[in-house]
Amino acid sequence: MTTATLTLADRLRKQFPPLAAGRAYLDNAAGGLLPLRAVEAITAHLMRYGATNAMPGHQPGAEILALKHRARGATALFLNAQPEDVALAQSATALAFRLSAAFARLWGPGDEVIVSGLEHEANASPWRELERAGVTVKVWHARKPEMRLHADDLAGLLPGRTRLVSVAAASNALGVTVDIPAVTAQVRAAGAWCVVDAVHAAPHTLPDVAAWGADFVMFSPYKVFGPHLGALWIKPEHRPNLPWPKLSFVPDGDITGIEHGTPQYELLAGWLGTLDYLRELGGSPELTRAALVSAYARIAQLEGPVAERLILGLAGRENVTLYGPQDMTGRVGTAAFRVDGQTPDQTAARLTAAGVDVAAGHFYAVQPLKDLGLYPEGVVRVSIAHYTSVDDVERLLARI
Ligand SMILES: Cc1ncc(COP(=O)(O)O)c(C=O)c1O
Repeated sequence: MTTATLTLADRLRKQFPPLAAGRAYLDNAAGGLLPLRAVEAITAHLMRYGATNAMPGHQPGAEILALKHRARGATALFLNAQPEDVALAQSATALAFRLSAAFARLWGPGDEVIVSGLEHEANASPWRELERAGVTVKVWHARKPEMRLHADDLAGLLPGRTRLVSVAAASNALGVTVDIPAVTAQVRAAGAWCVVDAVHAAPHTLPDVAAWGADFVMFSPYKVFGPHLGALWIKPEHRPNLPWPKLSFVPDGDITGIEHGTPQYELLAGWLGTLDYLRELGGSPELTRAALVSAYARIAQLEGPVAERLILGLAGRENVTLYGPQDMTGRVGTAAFRVDGQTPDQTAARLTAAGVDVAAGHFYAVQPLKDLGLYPEGVVRVSIAHYTSVDDVERLLARI
């Protein structure tokens, strides 16, 4: 095939070097693939600067400082937020634990936290740490079999001194999505704060902290076709009042205080490369919020038929039990299942031997899998991204 006859989707796939190996990569929920320009940006940064630090007093240091500001600004665009409210660090989990340390200095006996039953432990364990300070932690369980969260169940838990509700925009194990503006409105009406885990949703739906109405939002660039980084947005009115552990000279409320240590500058450069890829996908000469909105419209178009084939293909198999929603309503293209007579590990081993890479286990989604009686062995998980082809899914279905 010549370049001229390649479809748009093929041209897009060519930008992701690992796809050239010819395997069906179906573990995007664990980590995405990077477009070539993101990989090249990391190499270019290291070639040019090595591990030089940000220092305004010399030229390379000033350039690296500018890179840090660009990365924060672009991440703010990605979240529809202001740069001074966005922290970038090693992982979302690390940032959540630092936020929890701040809460532990504010709350104590009599205070309550509600953790949704869909959570990855990154949005549960940090808040369970508050039990050490005397805070009571309750679980807002999802309802079986579809594993959806219901407002009535939350309403039953909110009375009392609820300080915080933690909820995922999408479950990393089951793919089920949550109506975040509805949850935050309910939580706000009860006088509590809401921390939203957008890590699994972000490769499929562009986060929008302004529209979501949350107090804290986290996501991880490495699930969004970027390098291994985590990000946290804090609502501006809370930022000055949160006593997170920090270096003594950093002013209260300065977002850099929660980032802890020297940033991974080469990864910030790579993340800017990813955002440039999204800019182009959005058909814009400049990285703007509108460009990202349009990139995500393309992502939705590309993912739609692939996700549908995956979910309906699995739901229709006699020897497969699909957990969570059985169709495309209120979900992303992440599917959890088991094959009759096989452990999840056995199914994954068989599939990877056939060139189809899926994951097996609990993926730190402890509560949802406990509620389904599937913990700790877990499930087989298949998760698509916008570069996944229907052919990848057909290969999976043929080999199950
Ligand atoms: C839904 C969800 N939340 C949080 C995390 C943790 O992200 P990080 O690795 O950046 O700490 C993950 C990672 O798999 C996840 O899937």
